[in-house]
This record gives sequence, C-alpha cells and structure tokens, in this order.
Amino acid sequence: MIRLAILASGSGSNAEKIMEHFQTSSKAEVALVASNKAEAFVLERAKKFNVPTFTFSRKEMDAGILLEKLKEEKIDWVILAGFLLKIPVELTRAFPDRMVNIHPALLPKYGGKGMYGSHVHEAVKAAGEKETGITIHLVNENYDEGRIVFQASVALDDLDTPESIAAKVHMLEHRHFPLVIEELLTQSST
Ligand code: GAR
Repeated sequence: MIRLAILASGSGSNAEKIMEHFQTSSKAEVALVASNKAEAFVLERAKKFNVPTFTFSRKEMDAGILLEKLKEEKIDWVILAGFLLKIPVELTRAFPDRMVNIHPALLPKYGGKGMYGSHVHEAVKAAGEKETGITIHLVNENYDEGRIVFQASVALDDLDTPESIAAKVHMLEHRHFPLVIEELLTQSST
C-alpha cells in the first residue's frame, strides 16, 4: 500500500476529495493530513475519515520536524492541496518526483510568490482573462516550476467575479486532482 500524506493550510476541500477517492483504493491510502494551521478546517475533515493529523509551525517545518514525521509515518508521496508555505529544500529532496502540488491557474501564468488562493483569482479577473484553469505539477526546488503533469481550463466571461472564478476552479480541481494522483502512482509503480 502506497502511503500518502496531504499537506494543507485551509479548508481542505481538495483534501476531502482525495481522502474520499482513496478510501476504497487497494493501491494507496491517505496516512496523514498535516497542516501549519491548528485551526484549519482540513483537520476536521481528516477526523471524519479517521486519518491521523499533525500540526506544525513554519519554524518547526524549517527545522526538519515535518520531514521527521513523514519519515516516521513511512510516507511515500506528499500531496500539496492548498498548502501555502514554501517547502524547504530538504523536504523536496526527500521526495524527488514524489511530491505533487495543485495550483489554481494555468501556470506559468499567475504563479510564483504571492500567487495563491484568492489572490490568483483576483489577478485573473483584473487582467480580463477569457479563461483560467488548474495546473497539477511535481514539486521541485523552485516555487511553481516543477514538471507540469496536468492542466485543464474553463471559460470566463465579463460577469465572473473572483468568487465565481474560484468556484469554477474548485470544480475542476475536485474532478481531476484525485484521478491525476492515481495516475501518477500507477506510472511510478510500473
Ligand atoms: C485550491 O484552489 C488550491 O489550488 C490553492 O488553494 C486552494 C485550496 O482549496 N492552492 C494554491 O493556491 C497553492 N499555490 P481547498 O483548501 O478547499 O482545497
């Protein structure tokens, strides 16, 4: 059984879809949900699925505490699902090609420092984009620059607001992220 850890900083709607998906899988299980926010709703969602949780501060993450925990839990793959801190190099090196992130836009557009969550949708709206989408990519040492494994787009119109854009993007994320993870696991184990 492949052991997955999900790192998330907020609501965790993507984490929930992933836990749901792998609940019945014989290939992989979500073995840990870890968050840098003790009040993050993702932790409640994990409890519902009986998935163990772990919280840590940025300082602790930078000092290697999170990596230690992932090793202790024998985690094979790390899934970033709305995780908003920059991952330390030691952590990306510990999971080469086995750490995956979802970004709420069509990278390389609207990526990089400060571009996360609602900031992305506000920027997309301000630019008058006719479409946006999602990017799922492997995580390397450069923020938002790892190899892209999947993108999907959705049309926008003038009436869209940052909130409606967020809703459209979340729909795409929920539909595709669990399946793309499954596909990555299959490719890596064959
Ligand atoms: C998602 O839209 C995800 O793409 C984004 O945060 C949201 C988390 O939603 N991630 C980033 O912006 C990372 N740069 P969720 O907590 O409901 O899954």
